[in-house]
Amino acid sequence: MDFTSMLLFSFASIVFIFLFRFLLKLFSSTGRKLPLPPGTLGWPYIGETFQLYSQNPNVFFASKVRRYGSIFKTHILGCPCVMISSPEAAKFVLVKGARLFKPTFPASKERMLGKQAIFFHQGDYHNKLRKLVLRAFMPEAIKNIVSDIESIAKDSIQSWEGRLINTFQEMKTYTFNVALLSIFGKDEVLYREDLKRCYYILEKGYNSMPINLPGTLFHKSMKARKELAQILGKILSTRRQMKLDHNDLLGSFMGDKEGLTDEQIADNIIGVIFAARDTTASVLTWILKYLGENPSVLQAVTEEQEAIIRSKEECGEEKFLSWADTKRMPITSRVIQETLRVASILSFTFREAVEDVEYDGYLIPKGWKVLPLFRNIHHNPEIFPDPEKFDPSRFEVAPKPNTFMPFGNGTHSCPGNELAKLEVLVLLHHLTTKYRWTVVGTNSGIQYGPFALPQNGLPIRLTQRS
Ligand code: HEM
Ligand SMILES: *[C@@H]1O[C@H](CO)[C@@H](O)[C@H](O)[C@H]1NC(C)=O
Repeated sequence: MDFTSMLLFSFASIVFIFLFRFLLKLFSSTGRKLPLPPGTLGWPYIGETFQLYSQNPNVFFASKVRRYGSIFKTHILGCPCVMISSPEAAKFVLVKGARLFKPTFPASKERMLGKQAIFFHQGDYHNKLRKLVLRAFMPEAIKNIVSDIESIAKDSIQSWEGRLINTFQEMKTYTFNVALLSIFGKDEVLYREDLKRCYYILEKGYNSMPINLPGTLFHKSMKARKELAQILGKILSTRRQMKLDHNDLLGSFMGDKEGLTDEQIADNIIGVIFAARDTTASVLTWILKYLGENPSVLQAVTEEQEAIIRSKEECGEEKFLSWADTKRMPITSRVIQETLRVASILSFTFREAVEDVEYDGYLIPKGWKVLPLFRNIHHNPEIFPDPEKFDPSRFEVAPKPNTFMPFGNGTHSCPGNELAKLEVLVLLHHLTTKYRWTVVGTNSGIQYGPFALPQNGLPIRLTQRS
C-alpha cells in the first residue's frame, strides 16, 4: 500500500466511523421520540376491563379498530397493552419479531398448569419441548392411531343416541379421551377414569381467584393437581420398569436424551390436555350448529363421506378409516376451516414486549402486553367478503399468508393442529353418514368466556338417519 492510498483509507475509515455514530445517534434519539399507538388507556388500573367484559368482547375490539385503525393502545386487566389486527402486524409479533415478544398468562393459570409447561417459555427449553411435542403429533405419528380414534368416536356417538345431550359437554368427553390416547397410547383406558376425575376438579379452578385457603375452588384445584401428578408418577415408574418404547407423547418426553424431570413431564402433560380438550370440543360444537343451519352444506358433507364408505366397500378394504381416507375429504375440511374462521374460538392471544420495540412508526414500550386479534383479521371484509356468512366454498382458494391463523403462527403455533383436524374429520364421518340431530330450545345466543360457545353448549337430540 503506498502513502496516498493509506491516507485515503484512513480518511475513509474516519468518515465511516463518523457516519456510523451519527446514524446510531439518529436511531436512538428517534427511538425515544416515537409516539405510542393511538387509543385511550381508560381509567387508571380498572382501565377498559369493565368495557371489555360487559359486552361481547368482539364488539369492543371491532369498535376500537373502527376508531383507531389496526393498531391501538388500551388498558385491560391492569396492564397497558397494544392490540393489533393486521396480517402484517400479526406476522411481526408472532413470526418475524417473535424474539421480542414473550408469551404471558395470568399467574393463576401458570400455577394450575404448572410453571414448566411449554406455553410459558421461550428459547432453548421451549425449543426442546416443542420438538418433543411435534414428534408425537406430526402426521407420521398420528397416522397410527386413526382407527383407535375411530373407536372412541363410535362409542361416543352411540352413547348419545336418543338422548337429549349437551353437545359441548359430550364433545369434551370425546376430545379428552382422544387427548389421553395421544398422550398415553393404549395404556390410556387404564387410567382414564382417575385422570378424568382429577382433571375435572382441576379445571374448575382455572378462572378462580388464586387464593389457596381450605375450601376455596383454587385450593381444591391445587389438590387435584397434586393427585394428577401422583397418577402420572405411577405411570412413569411402570413404564421405566417395563423398558418398552412408546410412540405417544409420554414416550416422546421420556425418551429425550437430555432428560426431562418428572415435574416437567407432569406440567406439560396437564398443559397439553388443557390445550387440546376444550378448543377442539368447542370447534365440534360450532360445526354441529353450522351444519344444522346449512342443510345444503350438510348434504354435501354427507355425500362426500358416503363416497368414502362406498369406495372402501368396492375395493374390499377393511372397514376402518385410514389416514389416506381422511385426506380425501376436501368438502368436510373446508367446513372445518370455515368454522374455525367464523367462530374464531381463540379470538386473540397474549404476548409481552421484552424490550422497547418499534413497529410501524410506533413505540411499543417494554413490559406492555401485545394482543394479536385473530378474530378481527378473520372477520375483516377486505380479506373475507361478507365475513359473518358461513360459506365453506371461500376456502376453495387458499387464504393469503397471515390472514387465517386459527392455530396461530410462528414459534408458538399449535403443534396439535393435525390431530385436532383428524379427530374432527373422524367424528364427522360417522355422525353425518348415520345420524341426524335437532337443536333443542330456541336460544341461539352465544356465551363468552374463556371462548365463544353456542348458548348452553348447544343442547341437541340425536337420532339414526332414516
Ligand atoms: C381446534 C382445536 C385447536 C385450536 C383452535 C388450537 C389453537 C391454538 C393456538 C392459536 C395456539 C397458539 C397460541 C399462541 O400463539 O399464543 C395453540 C398452541 C398450542 N396448542 Fe393448540 N389448538 C387446538 C387443538 C390442540 C390440540 C388437539 C393440541 C394437542 C394435542 C394442542 C396443543 C397445543 C400446544 C401444546 C400449544 C402451545 C405451543 C407452544 O407454546 O409452543 N392444541 N393452539
Ligand atoms: C406464517 O408466517 C409465514 C411467514 O410470514 C407465512 O409464510 C405463513 O403463511 C404464515 N402461516 C399462516 C397460517 O398464515
